[in-house]
Amino acid sequence: MQDYANYYKRQAAAAGIELVETGMVVGLGSGSTSEIMIELLAERVKQEGLDIAAIATSVKSANLAEQLGLRLVTFDQYVSIDLTLDGADEIQISRLDLIKGLGAALWREKIVAACSDRLVILADESKIVTYLGQKSPVPVEVAQFGWQTTRHHIMELFDGAEAELRHKSGKALVTDGGNYILDCRFGEITEPEELDMLLTTLPGVVVTGIFCRFAEHAIIAGEEGVRMIEPIVTDYDQSDAGLA
Ligand code: 5RP
Repeated sequence: MQDYANYYKRQAAAAGIELVETGMVVGLGSGSTSEIMIELLAERVKQEGLDIAAIATSVKSANLAEQLGLRLVTFDQYVSIDLTLDGADEIQISRLDLIKGLGAALWREKIVAACSDRLVILADESKIVTYLGQKSPVPVEVAQFGWQTTRHHIMELFDGAEAELRHKSGKALVTDGGNYILDCRFGEITEPEELDMLLTTLPGVVVTGIFCRFAEHAIIAGEEGVRMIEPIVTDYDQSDAGLA
């Protein structure tokens, strides 16, 4: 099963890097699919002599890109990005709303997504869902200071919500930004944009892993081959095509 998933991730990544053109500033995502994408992109850059600049969404992706010879730049040099290729934990099929952050890079990923002309999500088909929250918790990055009260507020604000502090090797996981992550469950998320806005009104919340209106396309690889999907519902005022 894992082998299939890796094969599909590679296929999605291989299709994604074909969108890169010489002269572009490219956003590099985080996670296993993005790591495959970075490897394939570095090969293509070498083989074809492409001139690209890259901005990474995590220290891990930056280190990998540097090792493989990609030219990393910073926001000192560029304030916008032409194309970002990134993974996701859930992709809502009709709107391409996303849950991201199981790899803990959500803050940088959202900053990069927000300044990208195009965000293209690369994933195997297991990431497709009909509503957000179907499989994955929503990672919420919170300040270390007072994280307990932020957790309490989240659970108080949303009846029945669960919020669990993420751990790694027996300790609270600290993100690249120096924060903690609460993995939250809200049941079926029918209004993700509203949930995102409400959560970010809490002073201890830095960013949530709900990404609405960011993805231009998703490249999904699976049994049916590689598909390039675009949002089919873009009007957030209307009901969600009966999917909720
Ligand atoms: C990291 C992310 C990743 O894009 C997401 O977790 C997908 O990872 P993978 O490609 O390993 O399934 O949001 O913060």
